[in-house]
Amino acid sequence: MRQDHLISAVDLSREDIEAVLDRAAEIDANPAAFRQRHAGTVLGLCFFEPSTRTRMSFDTAMKRLGGQTVDMGPVESSSVKKGETLADTVRVVEGYADALVLRHPSEGAATMAADFVNVPLVNAGDGAGQHPSQTLLDLYTIRENAGLDDLTIGIMGDLKYGRTVHSLAEALTNFDVNQHFISPESLQLPRNVRYDLHASGASVKEHTELDEVLPELDVLYVTRIQRERFPDENEYRKVAGEYKIDDETLAAASDDLVIMHPLPRVDEISPEIDDSDHAKYFEQAHNGIPVRMALLDILLSNDD
Ligand code: NCD
Repeated sequence: MRQDHLISAVDLSREDIEAVLDRAAEIDANPAAFRQRHAGTVLGLCFFEPSTRTRMSFDTAMKRLGGQTVDMGPVESSSVKKGETLADTVRVVEGYADALVLRHPSEGAATMAADFVNVPLVNAGDGAGQHPSQTLLDLYTIRENAGLDDLTIGIMGDLKYGRTVHSLAEALTNFDVNQHFISPESLQLPRNVRYDLHASGASVKEHTELDEVLPELDVLYVTRIQRERFPDENEYRKVAGEYKIDDETLAAASDDLVIMHPLPRVDEISPEIDDSDHAKYFEQAHNGIPVRMALLDILLSNDD
């Protein structure tokens, strides 16, 4: 990887992505070979927003590489409550750790924080901005189940506030992919993401109804409406529950359709889908371990 930090999917070339995915496949095939790879390394976890999968999988990934983690813990019990700035927090934690993982409610927080530290920093979600390590595990799951070229994907739900969508859509421009975006009009892609997609010459179409495009799809990536990012709860209520996938919806889908979701889900995928061959979202979450191990391995080796 060219850069020391992972802040945005825009910074990832096809080569960078393939290096991480190939390393993750090596780890998946022979995890024992990586067990002591980063013995003595400490990863700092700074989560200013709730997280289950991302925090736990970075924690596990570091430990499965032989390293350890230090966790800032909940914001309520940290010095942030005393008024400490983000810049100060990351500079302090940098002194305890060899790499940092940061999640923060403000868009741009990771870009700003990276300016203050000399160890690799991974953006684990900055508000409605980016979530590039999620994208790497999404791409790994897509590559395993459908292949990354000559792919038709539907990305559905909250395209405005969904940071996993922004990172995924931008990373997919490195491959031969037709991207269909399905959302209510009020939750379409933000202007900066549209601009990046347009500038890269990506094949992009927007829809308000899934059935316009469902039969063509190889992959359907479903997302949660990001309730916590709506400035007005009434606006959330207008769109909540609008897109739901159940057995009936899937009658028009290809038998090989792969359904993904970054999780957590609220009600956008009915549990009746979970046992079907379409459902790959739990596999996707489990892929967080080899992919984050691969990412840490590459970023920490850059540093050697
Ligand atoms: C996502 C996030 O935090 O952006 N969760 C995750 O990391 N898997 C998706 C979400 O919260 O909807």
